[in-house]
Amino acid sequence: MRPRVGPSVAIIGPGRVGQALAKLLAGAGVRVDFVAARRVGRARRAQKFIGCGRVVTLTDPALARASVFVLTVADRALQPVAKQLADLLARSLGVGRRSKLLAGRVFLHTCGSLDARVLKPLARLGGAVGSLHPFQTVPSAEQGAKNLLRTFWTTEGDPSACRLARGWVRLLKGKIVRIRSDRKTLYHLSAFLVCPTLVALMERATGFLEAVGAPTRVARQMLGAFVGETVKNFVAFGGRRSLTGPASRGDWDVIRRHRQELRRRAPDLLPVYDSLLREILHLAGKQPPPGIWKLSNKVVG
Ligand SMILES: NC(=O)c1ccc[n+]([C@@H]2O[C@H](COP(=O)([O-])OP(=O)(O)OC[C@H]3O[C@@H](n4cnc5c(N)ncnc54)[C@H](OP(=O)(O)O)[C@@H]3O)[C@@H](O)[C@H]2O)c1
Repeated sequence: MRPRVGPSVAIIGPGRVGQALAKLLAGAGVRVDFVAARRVGRARRAQKFIGCGRVVTLTDPALARASVFVLTVADRALQPVAKQLADLLARSLGVGRRSKLLAGRVFLHTCGSLDARVLKPLARLGGAVGSLHPFQTVPSAEQGAKNLLRTFWTTEGDPSACRLARGWVRLLKGKIVRIRSDRKTLYHLSAFLVCPTLVALMERATGFLEAVGAPTRVARQMLGAFVGETVKNFVAFGGRRSLTGPASRGDWDVIRRHRQELRRRAPDLLPVYDSLLREILHLAGKQPPPGIWKLSNKVVG
């Protein structure tokens, strides 16, 4: 671990992202001085993972000694926790003009779908507010402590908050993209469309492979290798040139058999398949023959 320098940092609500980010920042020399959770036991466990920081609750006046606050609570808790923190800091620092009480302090959240305005109670007291969002999936703190290095991040909000965010991302050897504050739902959709959706589709595909005889572990590896190659092609060549499969070739009979099989084995997936097929046809610039969306009562397979 490097010697700690720079402003004193408090992690507010250390779940998966909070713990992973704090551990990486502390490892890079950032002074993670406080680990704050609503329950002390939670903060203690997080502190053990992070490796430093004083364990406090969200109502501890000692938090007023921090200069940078990273709110990593669940999205739904951001607004109330920002309000609670603003009240606590106003009580603890309560001398001087209210609109300047938090001048020089920075507040960042890590939510992808909400912009910095959710931290309004802190901005009203003069704090610089912003968001720092990892464009990455963090299924556990342990995974995050690996995959939040050298990854993409986005930021928006007040200039000094974004500046701090950029500095941290450089420490984590990542790349940062400044995004529009007024389009965060659209931004978040770009992540949602390809991450949890892919997991859900891969889980169903695993079931189909199991049904044809592949053991679960092998099925996951098969899908992993296949999707990995698809992703590499997409990054190198873009969407249209990476398309393969019956819809891009015009093998319409295969599509008809897929749809029949889905109706028989997984009818709930049929509308999903049809929507995705429309998207593929659009990208491939293909027009299917009339009647492709009809299902016959003939049993196939
Ligand atoms: N996981 C990802 O892949 C990912 C990726 C990018 C960005 N993010 C964003 O990062 C943030 C954290 O996500 P996460 O996945 O790390 O969530 P998480 O593991 O579920 O952790 C959420 C934390 O919020 C705390 N919390 C929830 N409600 C609270 C409340 N009312 N008051 C105080 N604390 C509260 C929880 O504390 P308790 O233990 O006390 O319940 C927990 O420590 C979210 O904004 C999320 O959108 C997540």
